[in-house]
Amino acid sequence: MQSTSSARAHTNIALIKYWGKKNQELIIPTTSSLSLTLDRFYTDTKVTFDDKLTADTFYLNHQQMVGPIADKTFAFLKLIRQQAQIDTFATIESINHVPTAAGLASSASAFAALAGAGSKAAGLTLTKQALSRLARRGSGSAARSIFGGFSEWHAGDNDLNSFAHPIQENVTMDIQMITVVVDAHEKKITSRMGMQHALLTSPFYQTWVNEAAKDLVAMKAAIVSNDFKALGTLAENNALQMHSLNLSAKPGFTYFNGSTLEILDLVQNLRKQQILAFATMDAGPNVKIIAQSKDTATIIDILKQAFPHVQVEIAKPGHGLIYLD
Ligand code: ADP
Ligand code: DP6
Ligand code: CO
Repeated sequence: MQSTSSARAHTNIALIKYWGKKNQELIIPTTSSLSLTLDRFYTDTKVTFDDKLTADTFYLNHQQMVGPIADKTFAFLKLIRQQAQIDTFATIESINHVPTAAGLASSASAFAALAGAGSKAAGLTLTKQALSRLARRGSGSAARSIFGGFSEWHAGDNDLNSFAHPIQENVTMDIQMITVVVDAHEKKITSRMGMQHALLTSPFYQTWVNEAAKDLVAMKAAIVSNDFKALGTLAENNALQMHSLNLSAKPGFTYFNGSTLEILDLVQNLRKQQILAFATMDAGPNVKIIAQSKDTATIIDILKQAFPHVQVEIAKPGHGLIYLD
């Protein structure tokens, strides 16, 4: 017997970041986070359970994967099998329309798509909340990619109450993200390792937890009142606070490179010229510029003049998980 399902999930970029877990096995975060799902970057994943298979297999971008990347997906299949009470092996075929492990949230779209396709192929019918809880077990940020637009991952404190929910799926604010790829290589320090090291060794970690709670309240108010400037100011500040945890860890480290800082400087200078633009960075050197549609062409012009070699894309708010069959 064979059972197949395909799903598409988009990446999301956090405006209020998740950076640390209070439970590593269950992926329960220390703080709640809030993101914008993007239309431009996504993962398509097909899962086929088949009685005839004798092992799980994982293909990423048409290449068979072995080692830790494959093992993570097999551990995830195990969770699905437990829920569905089956013991059939599966083949996963996934295509990333986003650079993998470069700080553009491939793990978010990847595990949201795998949760969708895998659970459906296994015969489960899950609510979006249950899908978000399941996706979370693959990668925390994936919990938010089940939903479109602005999505909040409520931290909770156990497997049942840690999941994302939509804040505003159809975004009313004029907001876009310009992704500036200065380096698409895979990061040396995964998000998983980086956040745990910061949590264990930065003396500022508890302050981050306290500040994040306040930032989240203010961010939700900015969304409700359509206040782009407040949203951008909060997002840039929250991202810099997250990265300061890494710099203050022992030993300290950073995902930034020289170009990251130069682009950050350019964005801050745009504001002096009355162009409202804000930067956010994740676990990688690439910068996401938060901007309004009326300004994106000007910003890209200025960016291209200063950095002719960077790869620039415009992303708009995207929708949540969809099934392709
Ligand atoms: P990113 O910034 O891209 O989210 P992470 O370090 O958080 O980087 O996650 C990258 C990891 O996510 C990869 O090493 C791999 O384990 C997993 N991943 C990425 N894309 C896929 C995919 N399409 N299917 C399954 N796992 C994936
Ligand atoms: C900086 O979700 O990739 O992008 O849960 O260990 O898989 P794991 O980590 P991941 O971390 C994302 C970190 C971030 C901020 C964010 O997306 O909230
Ligand atoms: Co990730």
